[in-house]
Amino acid sequence: MKMNRQVVLASYVSDAAKPENFAMSESAIPEPGEGEFLLRNMYLSMEPAIRGWVDGKANYFEPIPIGGVIRGPSVGQVVKSCNQDFVEGDLVYALNHWEDYSICHSEAILLEKLKPETGIPISYYVGSLGGAGATAYIGLHEVGQIQAGQTVVVSAAAGATGSMAGQIAKLCGCTVIGIVGSDKKAKLIVDKFGFDAAINYKNDDVTKSVMAIASEGADIYFDNVGGPILNAMLPAMKVYGRIIGCGMISDYNRTDNPNPITNLWEMVSRQLTMQGFLLPSYQKKVPAAMAKLEEWIRAGEINVIENITEGFVNTPKAFCDLMSGNTVGKALVKID
Ligand SMILES: NC(=O)c1ccc[n+]([C@@H]2O[C@H](COP(=O)([O-])OP(=O)(O)OC[C@H]3O[C@@H](n4cnc5c(N)ncnc54)[C@H](OP(=O)(O)O)[C@@H]3O)[C@@H](O)[C@H]2O)c1
Repeated sequence: MKMNRQVVLASYVSDAAKPENFAMSESAIPEPGEGEFLLRNMYLSMEPAIRGWVDGKANYFEPIPIGGVIRGPSVGQVVKSCNQDFVEGDLVYALNHWEDYSICHSEAILLEKLKPETGIPISYYVGSLGGAGATAYIGLHEVGQIQAGQTVVVSAAAGATGSMAGQIAKLCGCTVIGIVGSDKKAKLIVDKFGFDAAINYKNDDVTKSVMAIASEGADIYFDNVGGPILNAMLPAMKVYGRIIGCGMISDYNRTDNPNPITNLWEMVSRQLTMQGFLLPSYQKKVPAAMAKLEEWIRAGEINVIENITEGFVNTPKAFCDLMSGNTVGKALVKID
């Protein structure tokens, strides 16, 4: 009998996630109930947010219990349906689980029925046209209120969300500076993603480097990392600048002992606004964001890099690689 392979949590993660924190399991392929449909997952999205769900502590979602299947976004195809809005063959993006087959329904978080454009790979709908692209677009527009002519700084700039945020900001007519963790990534974001300048936070003083490139400072800081880089960006902001709180990956392995932020007075003296956001709260804005991103990708105005791991059994390693900075662009797993 064909079974449903799943990745489950073997032990709570207290520091950097290791492949041993996860285990492979199998169960019967589930049957969809009324209003549900069964997806055959094709691609799994590797997301830093998953780190916050595997340490046994409450986050904005319930923690995944030991033995629980790991939650994460995927793109899959409907293979059986008891929901008239989703028929066999439909392609769907939603928050599912790390497994071959997922039960899904109309109220699923992040749910989008996909109508892939000819010539655009389905895998793009996991990242640049999925959560990462939508997060970048909505973060810049809804939270950052981006305007042409501004200076925008993006951290984790070679990653899935950061590379999209930087390119979108360029297309909005901004000067864009990226912060990354290696010289190789610094070269990549300028050469491939068209950033105006790059800073390697492991070698360079972030505050001084930003001010050397943009003497008045940043209008917008798209923050993917929090911690020391957020601290260094506070004195590099313009008066009335906006900080988009997208993620704080530098604290994800140290939630009991988060990095201190010592420059908060700059919020007052520079009259800054900082707003955090979560993509699921902006679900209604996603279709318009996707349509614009599709247009840019089709026109060759946005470059996409994917870091595709082949094979379901390699999912835990793919996740650990993402969290250790070993990837560029969108990290995803292609299910065999
Ligand atoms: N708000 C939302 O709804 C939402 C949605 C999606 C993603 N996010 C957030 O967006 C951020 C980026 O996610 P992503 O999926 O696009 O991942 P990603 O940028 O593709 O990969 C993570 C990158 O983070 C950097 N990083 C890791 N540890 C770091 C540290 N201690 N200090 C500084 N940088 C570190 C690494 O780049 P370097 O080598 O350059 O350091 C790594 O490549 C995450 O914080 C994630 O939680 C938020």
